[in-house]
Order: sequence, then structure tokens, then C-alpha cells
Amino acid sequence: MTNNIKAEKIQRLLVWRGWLRLAHWLMAGGTLALILTGWLIESAPSLASNAARDHYLAAYALVAGLSLRLWLLFRGVEVERASTLLPDMTRIHVMKDMLRFYVSFGRMPLPKWYAHNPLWGPVYLLLLLALLLVVATGFAAPKWPIVYGFYLPSMHVWWATAITIFTVAHIIAVVLHDMKGTGSDVSAMINGHRIFVIKRIDPDEIVRTHRISLDNIVRMPERRNDE
Ligand code: HEM
Ligand code: HEM
Repeated sequence: MTNNIKAEKIQRLLVWRGWLRLAHWLMAGGTLALILTGWLIESAPSLASNAARDHYLAAYALVAGLSLRLWLLFRGVEVERASTLLPDMTRIHVMKDMLRFYVSFGRMPLPKWYAHNPLWGPVYLLLLLALLLVVATGFAAPKWPIVYGFYLPSMHVWWATAITIFTVAHIIAVVLHDMKGTGSDVSAMINGHRIFVIKRIDPDEIVRTHRISLDNIVRMPERRNDE
């Protein structure tokens, strides 16, 4: 009777250190405020001067978070390093399962992963580059609007738009992961701990699997030789 019960073990492990979480929330808060104030500068002329001041304040939060994140990228522990964000072809099957999960609007199962989502890892790396460019163009544009023929205010808006698209997609994705998965992804970015549900092998499954004795394995080549 008890053999039919599939036991599950739940483990709560630290995946995101405090430094990474601090960097994440400084970048996230700064970016959300920059999107809001940037939009006000563009579309609400009566609020534009106050919004431009707040745009600068939010920029400093982003710069602090981004600098910390870049430092961790080269100096942090393994999960914080650039190498863990590069595309990993050994995990291509997990990436495909992630795509299936999105295309089916969360009806297909959500695969499991340890720290960075394998599909989003390279996107995070590109995002860090885009954030560097938006910061550089944002600070440089008022002083040097044209650099090597590039009109920096337009470049600023271009990268700002790309980051806004990422932000919308990222928030939808992480909420979906949290709703459909068992990892508590969003609170993991707050308290650092992700939940891992480990399925123990059903004893019945072991009984049902085909067994072959060691003797047979050893004898098999002999038999082939006899033929
Ligand atoms: C309320 C908004 C947000 C929530 C709830 C949130 C939540 C999360 C979660 C749960 C992860 C882990 C995903 C994974 O398993 O790979 C993550 C990763 C990440 N998020 Fe967010 N995020 C938010 C906003 C943002 C924004 C606005 C940015 C920057 C534009 C951002 C940048 C990142 C980056 C770069 C990572 C990868 C972690 C790292 O290596 O630094 N997030 N976020
Ligand atoms: C994700 C980050 C950011 C977003 C989404 C964003 C968005 C925008 C938008 C939409 C505008 C209005 C452009 C226009 O009206 O033509 C703007 C202007 C501007 N941004 Fe950003 N921006 C970001 C980061 C930054 C940063 C880091 C700085 C650095 C200080 C910065 C500095 C500026 C400046 C100086 C302007 C011109 C303000 C003015 O016309 O008075 N931005 N930004």
C-alpha cells in the first residue's frame, strides 16, 4: 500500500546572495522609475522639468545597481559570473521546454532550473550591455549630442525602448514562472531562497523496470561468439 505513494522531498536552498539581490532591486527600481520619468519628459510638457530632475535621480540608482552587478559578473561567486549567463548548449532541451511553456501560455510543464533560467541567461547579459549604453548616452547626450556621426538623444531613446520591452516581458515571465512553477521564483529574488521539489523514485517503478542480472551481461558477448 505504502509503495504506491510517490514521496516528494522539499528543499529550500540559497541561490541569490544579498549582493546580487541588492544589485537586482537597485537596477529594477531605477529602471522602472526611468521608464516612468522618461515617458513624462516625452509626453507631459508641464511636468517635464520635474520629471527630468527625477530621471537623473533614478539614473543614479541604476548606475549603483549596474556597477555592483558588473563587479559581481567578474568577481562574484559562480552563479553571479558572466560564464553562467552565456548560452549553454548542454541545456538546449531545457530552453526548448521553456519555449514550449511560453507558446502554450503556461499549459505545458515549466522545466526546473537552479539559479538563472537557461533561456533568459543570455538575454540578461545583453540587457546589462543595453543598460550600459542607455547610461552612457543619457549622461553624454546633453554635452555631446553628436559623437562619431551618431545622434545620442535618438540612440538613448532606442535603447530605452529596447529596455522597456525587456522589462515588460521579464515581469510577465517571472510572474508566470511563480504562478505555474513550484520554485517561488519572485520571493527567491527577495529572500534569496528557491524551493526545490525533489521526486523520490516510486518503489513500484523499480519493480516494474526490466531487470537483467550481471551474469547475463557478462555472458552475452560469449553467446554472440558461439553463434
Ligand atoms: C517588479 C519587477 C521585477 C521582478 C518581480 C523581477 C524578478 C526577477 C526574478 C524572479 C529573477 C530570476 C529569474 C531567473 O530565474 O532567471 C530576475 C532576474 C533578473 N532580473 Fe528581474 N525582476 C523585476 C524587474 C527587473 C528589471 C526592471 C530589471 C532591469 C531592467 C531586471 C533585471 C534582472 C536581471 C538582470 C536578472 C538576472 C539576475 C542577475 O544575474 O542579475 N529585473 N528578476
Ligand atoms: C532604462 C533607462 C532609461 C529610459 C527608459 C530612459 C528614457 C528616456 C526617455 C523616453 C527620454 C525622453 C526623450 C525625448 O523626449 O526625446 C529620456 C530623456 C533623457 N534621459 Fe533617459 N532613459 C533612461 C536612462 C537614462 C539615464 C541612465 C540617464 C543618465 C542621466 C538618462 C538621461 C536622460 C536625459 C539627460 C534626457 C533628456 C532630458 C531632457 O530632455 O530634459 N536617461 N530618457
